[in-house]
Amino acid sequence: MRLSVNVDHVATLRNARGGTFPCPVEAARVAMAAGADGVTMHLREDRRHIRDRDLERVAAEVETRLNFEMAATEEMVALCERLRPPACCIVPEKREELTTEGGLDAIKAGPFLAEAIKRLSGLGIEVSLFVEPDALQIARAAELGAQAIELHTGTYAEAAPEARAALAAKHAEAARHAKSLGLQCHAGHGLSYDTITPIAAIPEISEVSIGHFLISTSVFEGLAPAIGRMRGLIAAARG
Ligand code: PXP
Repeated sequence: MRLSVNVDHVATLRNARGGTFPCPVEAARVAMAAGADGVTMHLREDRRHIRDRDLERVAAEVETRLNFEMAATEEMVALCERLRPPACCIVPEKREELTTEGGLDAIKAGPFLAEAIKRLSGLGIEVSLFVEPDALQIARAAELGAQAIELHTGTYAEAAPEARAALAAKHAEAARHAKSLGLQCHAGHGLSYDTITPIAAIPEISEVSIGHFLISTSVFEGLAPAIGRMRGLIAAARG
Protein backbone atom coordinates (compact mmCIF):
# COMPACT_ATOMS: atom_id res chain seq x y z
CA MET A 1 0.00 0.00 0.00
CA ARG A 2 1.37 3.37 -1.01
CA LEU A 3 1.20 6.34 1.35
CA SER A 4 0.64 9.65 -0.39
CA VAL A 5 1.21 12.59 1.92
CA ASN A 6 -1.00 15.59 1.37
CA VAL A 7 1.04 18.77 2.00
CA ASP A 8 -1.80 21.30 1.57
CA HIS A 9 -1.73 22.35 5.20
CA VAL A 10 1.94 23.25 5.13
CA ALA A 11 0.81 25.85 2.60
CA THR A 12 -2.05 26.84 4.94
CA LEU A 13 0.54 27.66 7.63
CA ARG A 14 2.75 29.52 5.19
CA ASN A 15 -0.15 31.60 3.91
CA ALA A 16 -1.12 32.56 7.47
CA ARG A 17 1.93 34.88 7.51
CA GLY A 18 2.02 35.65 3.81
CA GLY A 19 5.69 34.68 3.46
CA THR A 20 7.53 31.67 2.12
CA PHE A 21 7.89 29.51 5.25
CA PRO A 22 6.99 26.70 5.80
CA CYS A 23 7.34 25.65 2.18
CA PRO A 24 5.14 22.83 0.84
CA VAL A 25 7.80 21.93 -1.73
CA GLU A 26 10.26 21.33 1.11
CA ALA A 27 7.55 19.34 2.92
CA ALA A 28 7.19 17.17 -0.20
CA ARG A 29 10.94 16.49 -0.10
CA VAL A 30 10.83 15.67 3.62
CA ALA A 31 7.82 13.39 3.10
CA MET A 32 9.67 11.44 0.41
CA ALA A 33 12.84 11.19 2.50
CA ALA A 34 10.72 9.93 5.42
CA GLY A 35 9.27 7.04 3.43
CA ALA A 36 6.20 8.43 1.67
CA ASP A 37 5.50 6.94 -1.75
CA GLY A 38 3.93 10.04 -3.17
CA VAL A 39 2.66 13.54 -2.50
CA THR A 40 -0.87 14.86 -2.93
CA MET A 41 -1.59 18.55 -3.54
CA HIS A 42 -5.05 20.04 -3.96
CA LEU A 43 -5.04 23.23 -6.00
CA ARG A 44 -8.33 24.80 -5.07
CA GLU A 45 -10.11 27.32 -7.23
CA ASP A 46 -9.60 29.98 -4.53
CA ARG A 47 -5.88 29.02 -4.02
CA ARG A 48 -6.43 29.07 -0.26
CA HIS A 49 -3.45 26.81 0.42
CA ILE A 50 -1.49 25.34 -2.49
CA ARG A 51 -0.64 27.82 -5.25
CA ASP A 52 0.13 27.11 -8.91
CA ARG A 53 3.85 27.66 -8.34
CA ASP A 54 3.95 25.07 -5.51
CA LEU A 55 2.45 22.47 -7.78
CA GLU A 56 4.75 23.37 -10.68
CA ARG A 57 7.79 23.19 -8.42
CA VAL A 58 6.89 19.79 -6.93
CA ALA A 59 6.22 18.44 -10.44
CA ALA A 60 9.60 19.73 -11.65
CA GLU A 61 11.86 19.41 -8.61
CA VAL A 62 10.73 16.56 -6.37
CA GLU A 63 11.17 12.91 -7.19
CA THR A 64 7.74 11.72 -6.23
CA ARG A 65 4.50 10.26 -7.49
CA LEU A 66 2.58 13.54 -7.58
CA ASN A 67 -1.17 13.17 -7.20
CA PHE A 68 -2.82 16.40 -8.37
CA GLU A 69 -6.14 16.72 -6.57
CA MET A 70 -8.45 18.96 -8.55
CA ALA A 71 -12.00 19.88 -9.49
CA ALA A 72 -13.25 19.00 -12.97
CA THR A 73 -12.97 22.50 -14.40
CA GLU A 74 -11.40 23.63 -17.66
CA GLU A 75 -8.77 25.61 -15.73
CA MET A 76 -7.63 22.60 -13.68
CA VAL A 77 -7.77 20.13 -16.56
CA ALA A 78 -5.64 22.45 -18.71
CA LEU A 79 -3.11 22.84 -15.88
CA CYS A 80 -2.99 19.07 -15.35
CA GLU A 81 -2.45 18.56 -19.08
CA ARG A 82 0.48 20.97 -18.91
CA LEU A 83 2.09 19.47 -15.79
CA ARG A 84 1.38 15.83 -16.64
CA PRO A 85 1.66 14.39 -13.13
CA PRO A 86 1.56 10.60 -12.88
CA ALA A 87 -1.83 10.77 -11.14
CA CYS A 88 -4.74 13.07 -10.53
CA CYS A 89 -7.78 12.76 -8.33
CA ILE A 90 -10.97 14.53 -9.34
CA VAL A 91 -12.96 15.87 -6.40
CA PRO A 92 -16.10 17.96 -6.01
CA GLU A 93 -15.32 21.48 -4.86
CA LYS A 94 -17.43 24.13 -3.21
CA ARG A 95 -16.01 27.51 -2.36
CA GLU A 96 -17.64 27.67 1.09
CA GLU A 97 -16.47 24.27 2.33
CA LEU A 98 -13.57 23.98 4.80
CA THR A 99 -12.41 20.76 3.16
CA THR A 100 -13.77 18.33 0.58
CA GLU A 101 -17.03 17.32 2.21
CA GLY A 102 -17.96 14.18 0.33
CA GLY A 103 -17.48 12.13 -2.77
CA LEU A 104 -18.16 13.21 -6.30
CA ASP A 105 -21.57 12.38 -7.75
CA ALA A 106 -20.27 10.58 -10.83
CA ILE A 107 -23.82 9.63 -11.82
CA LYS A 108 -25.22 13.17 -11.91
CA ALA A 109 -22.03 14.81 -13.20
CA GLY A 110 -22.34 16.64 -16.48
CA PRO A 111 -20.52 15.75 -19.72
CA PHE A 112 -17.39 17.69 -18.75
CA LEU A 113 -16.36 14.98 -16.26
CA ALA A 114 -16.21 12.38 -19.02
CA GLU A 115 -14.29 14.81 -21.22
CA ALA A 116 -11.81 15.55 -18.42
CA ILE A 117 -11.19 11.84 -17.79
CA LYS A 118 -10.68 11.23 -21.50
CA ARG A 119 -8.28 14.14 -21.97
CA LEU A 120 -6.18 13.30 -18.92
CA SER A 121 -6.05 9.54 -19.28
CA GLY A 122 -5.21 10.05 -22.96
CA LEU A 123 -1.97 11.63 -21.76
CA GLY A 124 -1.16 8.62 -19.59
CA ILE A 125 -2.22 10.31 -16.34
CA GLU A 126 -3.91 7.90 -13.93
CA VAL A 127 -7.29 9.47 -13.23
CA SER A 128 -9.09 8.63 -10.04
CA LEU A 129 -12.53 9.78 -8.94
CA PHE A 130 -13.11 10.57 -5.27
CA VAL A 131 -16.36 8.74 -4.45
CA GLU A 132 -18.36 7.40 -1.54
CA PRO A 133 -18.16 3.64 -0.92
CA ASP A 134 -21.23 3.15 -3.07
CA ALA A 135 -21.58 0.42 -5.72
CA LEU A 136 -23.39 2.63 -8.26
CA GLN A 137 -20.84 5.44 -8.01
CA ILE A 138 -17.99 2.95 -8.42
CA ALA A 139 -19.65 1.32 -11.44
CA ARG A 140 -20.14 4.77 -12.97
CA ALA A 141 -16.47 5.64 -12.43
CA ALA A 142 -15.51 2.52 -14.39
CA GLU A 143 -18.03 3.36 -17.12
CA LEU A 144 -16.60 6.87 -17.43
CA GLY A 145 -13.15 5.42 -18.11
CA ALA A 146 -11.39 6.32 -14.84
CA GLN A 147 -8.46 4.09 -13.93
CA ALA A 148 -9.00 4.40 -10.19
CA ILE A 149 -11.32 5.53 -7.46
CA GLU A 150 -10.45 7.05 -4.12
CA LEU A 151 -12.91 6.04 -1.43
CA HIS A 152 -14.01 8.90 0.79
CA THR A 153 -13.11 7.72 4.30
CA GLY A 154 -14.28 10.91 6.05
CA THR A 155 -17.55 9.49 7.39
CA TYR A 156 -15.75 6.39 8.69
CA ALA A 157 -12.95 8.44 10.25
CA GLU A 158 -15.35 10.80 12.03
CA ALA A 159 -17.71 8.06 13.27
CA ALA A 160 -17.87 6.99 16.90
CA PRO A 161 -15.37 4.17 17.56
CA GLU A 162 -18.17 1.60 17.99
CA ALA A 163 -19.61 2.46 14.57
CA ARG A 164 -16.31 2.20 12.70
CA ALA A 165 -16.11 -1.59 12.14
CA ALA A 166 -19.32 -1.62 10.09
CA LEU A 167 -18.16 1.37 8.05
CA ALA A 168 -14.74 -0.22 7.46
CA ALA A 169 -16.55 -3.34 6.19
CA LYS A 170 -18.44 -1.12 3.75
CA HIS A 171 -15.12 0.22 2.46
CA ALA A 172 -13.78 -3.34 2.11
CA GLU A 173 -16.82 -4.33 0.05
CA ALA A 174 -16.49 -1.20 -2.10
CA ALA A 175 -12.79 -1.91 -2.65
CA ARG A 176 -13.56 -5.48 -3.79
CA HIS A 177 -16.21 -4.13 -6.14
CA ALA A 178 -13.77 -1.61 -7.61
CA LYS A 179 -11.15 -4.28 -8.14
CA SER A 180 -13.69 -6.59 -9.83
CA LEU A 181 -14.37 -3.77 -12.33
CA GLY A 182 -10.66 -3.37 -13.04
CA LEU A 183 -10.27 -0.14 -11.04
CA GLN A 184 -7.40 0.69 -8.74
CA CYS A 185 -8.75 1.55 -5.32
CA HIS A 186 -7.35 4.32 -3.13
CA ALA A 187 -8.74 5.78 0.09
CA GLY A 188 -8.44 8.99 2.02
CA HIS A 189 -9.84 11.76 4.16
CA GLY A 190 -9.61 12.23 7.90
CA LEU A 191 -7.37 9.20 8.52
CA SER A 192 -5.24 9.21 11.69
CA TYR A 193 -3.23 6.84 13.92
CA ASP A 194 -6.56 5.78 15.46
CA THR A 195 -8.36 5.02 12.20
CA ILE A 196 -5.74 3.82 9.70
CA THR A 197 -5.49 0.15 10.74
CA PRO A 198 -8.83 -1.25 9.47
CA ILE A 199 -8.40 0.66 6.17
CA ALA A 200 -4.76 -0.42 5.72
CA ALA A 201 -5.88 -4.02 6.31
CA ILE A 202 -8.09 -3.99 3.17
CA PRO A 203 -5.88 -5.72 0.58
CA GLU A 204 -7.66 -4.20 -2.45
CA ILE A 205 -6.77 -0.65 -1.38
CA SER A 206 -3.46 0.20 -3.01
CA GLU A 207 -2.98 3.78 -1.76
CA VAL A 208 -4.00 6.00 1.11
CA SER A 209 -3.77 9.78 1.03
CA ILE A 210 -3.29 11.46 4.40
CA GLY A 211 -2.76 15.14 5.10
CA HIS A 212 -4.34 17.05 7.93
CA PHE A 213 -3.54 14.55 10.67
CA LEU A 214 0.09 14.08 9.63
CA ILE A 215 0.81 17.80 9.35
CA SER A 216 -1.07 18.58 12.59
CA THR A 217 0.44 15.80 14.64
CA SER A 218 3.92 16.78 13.50
CA VAL A 219 3.40 19.97 15.54
CA PHE A 220 3.42 17.80 18.67
CA GLU A 221 5.85 15.12 17.58
CA GLY A 222 8.31 17.72 16.29
CA LEU A 223 7.75 20.60 18.75
CA ALA A 224 10.09 19.28 21.47
CA PRO A 225 13.18 18.99 19.22
CA ALA A 226 12.49 22.43 17.69
CA ILE A 227 12.31 24.05 21.15
CA GLY A 228 15.44 22.16 22.19
CA ARG A 229 17.32 23.42 19.15
CA MET A 230 16.22 27.02 19.74
CA ARG A 231 17.29 26.76 23.41
CA GLY A 232 20.65 25.43 22.19
CA LEU A 233 21.14 28.38 19.82
CA ILE A 234 20.20 30.87 22.56
CA ALA A 235 22.58 29.21 25.01
CA ALA A 236 25.40 29.14 22.42
CA ALA A 237 24.93 32.87 21.65
CA ARG A 238 25.29 33.65 25.36
CA GLY A 239 28.51 31.63 25.59
N1 PXP B 1 -8.21 12.68 -0.39
C1 PXP B 1 -8.97 13.71 -0.83
C2 PXP B 1 -9.69 13.52 -2.11
C3 PXP B 1 -9.06 14.91 -0.11
O1 PXP B 1 -9.84 15.90 -0.56
C4 PXP B 1 -8.29 15.06 1.05
C5 PXP B 1 -8.31 16.37 1.77
O2 PXP B 1 -7.68 17.34 1.00
C6 PXP B 1 -7.50 13.98 1.47
C7 PXP B 1 -7.50 12.80 0.74
C8 PXP B 1 -6.67 14.05 2.71
O3 PXP B 1 -7.52 14.22 3.79
P1 PXP B 1 -6.94 14.64 5.18
O4 PXP B 1 -6.24 15.94 4.99
O5 PXP B 1 -8.14 14.73 6.06
O6 PXP B 1 -5.99 13.54 5.59
